[in-house]
Amino acid sequence: MKPVMSCILNRRSVRTYIPQEVSVDDIMQLLTAASWAPSGNNLQPWKFSVVVNNKDLIKEVSSLTVFRNWVQNSSCLIAVFLDTKIANPKIESAHLKHIQSIGAAIQNILLAANELGLATCWIGEILKNEDQVRELLGVSDDLQLMAVISVGHSNKNSLKSKRRDISKNIISWL
Ligand SMILES: Cc1cc2nc3c(=O)[nH]c(=O)nc-3n(C[C@H](O)[C@H](O)[C@H](O)COP(=O)(O)O)c2cc1C
Repeated sequence: MKPVMSCILNRRSVRTYIPQEVSVDDIMQLLTAASWAPSGNNLQPWKFSVVVNNKDLIKEVSSLTVFRNWVQNSSCLIAVFLDTKIANPKIESAHLKHIQSIGAAIQNILLAANELGLATCWIGEILKNEDQVRELLGVSDDLQLMAVISVGHSNKNSLKSKRRDISKNIISWL
């Protein structure tokens, strides 16, 4: 199987981490993968705040989600923001495109991590505490929180989640 397809099919959200540091080199690769995502008008509306091998701050950020029990065991958190200075949220149709671009960047991170043998989970539940996340990370309010990604090492990838049959997703084939 081609490497990209293999990464797509083998990636799963991982919620069990072992205490092992993530290297700066690996994080830079994840951010490089994110930066090469497609974006509307190539505006690249993303910004990242990285918390790495900093147990105290990881614990504080984790406390802002109901998933704190396992998020706090990760070695790195990548908070992904939409830069509203680049992407004006008042123009609604454009805003949708910018959010889609951020989704592409996040997916690139997850797939690159999978290739590097790193475990990740996309955490959206924390968005309800956007202001507190921004405060903890010292991020200004012209950046809108899109997700936090937990990154770490794991000895578990059970390939647990399943997908419905593709035929159920195809509404027409003309
Ligand atoms: C927008 C978005 C938000 C998500 N938020 C959370 C979350 O807050 N907590 C969590 O454990 N998983 C979260 N996930 C992961 C999904 O639960 C997961 O992708 C889905 O169940 C499929 O499982 P898989 O990633 O293992 O294939 C989120 C995924 C997406 C795309």
